[in-house]
Amino acid sequence: MRLRTGILAYLALLVGLATATTGCPPASNGGAGGAQVGRQIFVDQRCGKCHKVGGKGGIMGPALDDPKAPVRTREWVREYLKDPMSKIDDARMPAVLVEGEELEALLDYLAEINP
Ligand code: HEC
Repeated sequence: MRLRTGILAYLALLVGLATATTGCPPASNGGAGGAQVGRQIFVDQRCGKCHKVGGKGGIMGPALDDPKAPVRTREWVREYLKDPMSKIDDARMPAVLVEGEELEALLDYLAEINP
């Protein structure tokens, strides 16, 4: 009986997770779902090696949640991430390899930490 309840609880959890992911709005709509996915991509891509967020991270690049940083449009940041030299002549940041929905989610996250 115990085991069975365990399995049922597990299945309920899986179903819940599945609906949570599929029921989410698409990553690119600027919603919290996209920003959350974007935060994970930020971690996976090791952006924190060079950038501080919330006071933690590397110092080679600027802190990405600095309210005094120059205001950039989403388009500017998208182009910059794909090809930093297209926006900053002597850019030292490597191009970001994520694209499509993942890139949009990353942009959602960046917009959330520094609106
Ligand atoms: C090897 C270090 C390094 C890594 C890794 C890195 N960056 Fe950067 N980033 C920089 C530097 C340095 C700058 C300053 C401009 C330049 O030299 O390109 C910068 C600038 C930026 C800017 C522009 C800030 C502005 O408005 O001027 C954004 C946005 C940004 N990085 C996001 C990211 C994201 C997202 C990732 C991970 C996918 C990432 N960076 C990974 C070094 C890095």
